[in-house]
Amino acid sequence: MLAGAGEATPFRGFVLGIETSCDDTACAVLDSEGRVLSSQVSSQLEVHRPFGGVVPEAASREHLRNWPAVSAAALAEAGIGWKDVGAVAATRGPGLVGSLLVGLSLGKAISYSLGVPFLAVHHLEGHLFSPLLGTEGASRPLPESMLGLVVSGGHTSLLEVDGETSAVASLAETRDDAVGEAFDKVGRRLGLPFPGGPEVDRLAELGDPAARPFRTARISSNELAFSYSGLKSQALRALAETLGEREIPPAALGGEDEAWPQEVLDLLAGFRRAAVDQLIRRLDRLWSERPIARLSVSGGVAACRLLRREVTAWGERRGVEILLVPLRFSGDNAAMIAHAGLLRLRRGDSDDPRSADAESRIPFR
Ligand code: KG4
Ligand code: ZN
Repeated sequence: MLAGAGEATPFRGFVLGIETSCDDTACAVLDSEGRVLSSQVSSQLEVHRPFGGVVPEAASREHLRNWPAVSAAALAEAGIGWKDVGAVAATRGPGLVGSLLVGLSLGKAISYSLGVPFLAVHHLEGHLFSPLLGTEGASRPLPESMLGLVVSGGHTSLLEVDGETSAVASLAETRDDAVGEAFDKVGRRLGLPFPGGPEVDRLAELGDPAARPFRTARISSNELAFSYSGLKSQALRALAETLGEREIPPAALGGEDEAWPQEVLDLLAGFRRAAVDQLIRRLDRLWSERPIARLSVSGGVAACRLLRREVTAWGERRGVEILLVPLRFSGDNAAMIAHAGLLRLRRGDSDDPRSADAESRIPFR
């Protein structure tokens, strides 16, 4: 079955999702109601950890190695076989091209051999719509209008969905580092395992942000763009000053929270507060310029405890409905890719499996 934007006929069947844009090999099955029947994610962290970041060449190889087990587990958990797959959705980018090519090529081959529709999905669309996914039941229908904040290790984006066409436009991006990258660099400086974001967030809960406040990036009043390299450098400098010649006690890195110097915990709390404040301030600026009915919040950093609390409070203050991604779907996963594919299938849209190509960067309008 070939590509096209045809009549929006109801899609009935199972959607197989494939996500290999970075270092997670993921496969998921959704039914036509958007219910997640399985979502398998195989992490490659142990392979990349010794290098303190993702090694692209190793990632591609690991995807190939992991795929048979991950796809078999996703089908088994969903209780279906290959012949039951009614459509295939795979990430086409942005991401590491070698990694993307593995999942995209697998997806194209599966769709072509089964003769079912194929969808090449934009990774950020996967995140953007992921808060509509339920942890048990069917997914929520796409609302008429929605803005989205996608925060991850590679992206800090404010997006807008056109209610009629479902086209996505970018309102703001980061000018330098992504917010998750700043968390990870701070974690790395402390000697925390990669990615350090989750642990920096957890430790920041134990500190007092007022004891070690951070300057927030100065940006002109009508600027919406994000910037995290200044905050990152400020945090790294502050850590160097605070620690001096001292090392982080091995017991602290071994999991004993009482062994962390309180100044370091306060510093992490101050850093995290500044990182989250920047996001909230941009949302407020946008809100003062135009009505916002609802905001989806997604991506790995959407697991940040402070962000979840602050964005929920902001929504209540400003009368904005907040769609917060379930923790299970905040990091990279294939359920969100299958789901973004399903939304397009419902509009009668699909791609040609013979020509879809992987791309490292795919800007929105
Ligand atoms: O969406 P994701 O899994 O992959 C990308 O597309 O980048 O996001 C991963 C990022 C990493 O930078 C990780 O440190 C960050 O999300 N992250 C967090 C938390 N959990 C994951 N950052 C802050 N607080 C967390 N709880
Ligand atoms: Zn992602």
